[in-house]
Amino acid sequence: MVYEPREDTLLLLSIVKKLKLRDRRVLDMGTGTGIIAITAAKKKARVDAVDIDKEALVTTRKNARREGVKIRVYYSNLFSNVNTRYDYIFFNAPYLPRGARSIVKDKALIGGKHGYETLVEFIKQLNKHLTRNGKAFIVYSSLSKEEKILEAANNALLEHKELVREHYFFEDIIVSRLERDRTNRYLYDRGINIEYFYSEGKHSRVYRTSNGIAKIPRKGFEKNIRREAEIIRYLNNTNSFFTPRLIASHGSILIEELVKGRRIEELVGEEKRRA
Ligand SMILES: C[S@@+](CC[C@H](N)C(=O)[O-])C[C@H]1O[C@@H](n2cnc3c(N)ncnc32)[C@H](O)[C@@H]1O
Repeated sequence: MVYEPREDTLLLLSIVKKLKLRDRRVLDMGTGTGIIAITAAKKKARVDAVDIDKEALVTTRKNARREGVKIRVYYSNLFSNVNTRYDYIFFNAPYLPRGARSIVKDKALIGGKHGYETLVEFIKQLNKHLTRNGKAFIVYSSLSKEEKILEAANNALLEHKELVREHYFFEDIIVSRLERDRTNRYLYDRGINIEYFYSEGKHSRVYRTSNGIAKIPRKGFEKNIRREAEIIRYLNNTNSFFTPRLIASHGSILIEELVKGRRIEELVGEEKRRA
């Protein structure tokens, strides 16, 4: 069943109405009846609307025709069929947990086993689909674990700002804005697109990028990472095949090739056990 606009829709809509959208590229993720997409199109934005529910796509096309606006409407499971960047992305996400005895089976409402999974996956993929200063506006409930959403934003180097919080019956409904943080923007300007948090090191946090990995020093360890870049550069010039290739270093941020495989410590450990 297509999701009929409710309080959450109206909260997001109140934000859409305030934005200057003329000629902006807009994506309405999980468009439902198309209400957000149609409102943006009426403000002269260039709008795409996607949904996982085919019935929602039919409804949105019909509603757009009736309202006399042009919108590109297509099927996509999150960003699976999206291959461009947007200035604004809106997502009133499904957030109810899929409880074992839940009678709710509707994918407009279920956000995964715990409720937050769809939104977290959306945030993980966001950097690939936002323009440099692009912004995403998300809607979720205090019933979906908010800390998971904040953690996902942090792990994608996205700034999170809560814009609206309203209490309805048994939950708060929240609208937040996500946009690249300073480091993310700094790297984007140098052609490096952060994808998502990869692992934690002693001196740095490591992120997957479009072309390798980025080591971003923890506070106080900037010198260590600069030094590491110097050593890798030196070893690269001596044809050492043990060393990953240094792609670039920007200030104290190091970008190197991602080498997939097993760690030397693991292999040495195995050898010792075998001996
Ligand atoms: C809460 S409804 C919001 C509908 C509409 N945007 C609104 O505000 O009224 C969530 C929508 O997201 C869609 N959806 C759920 N999971 C999705 C996914 N993985 N990819 C794309 N759309 C999804 C649902 O089919 C549903 O239309």
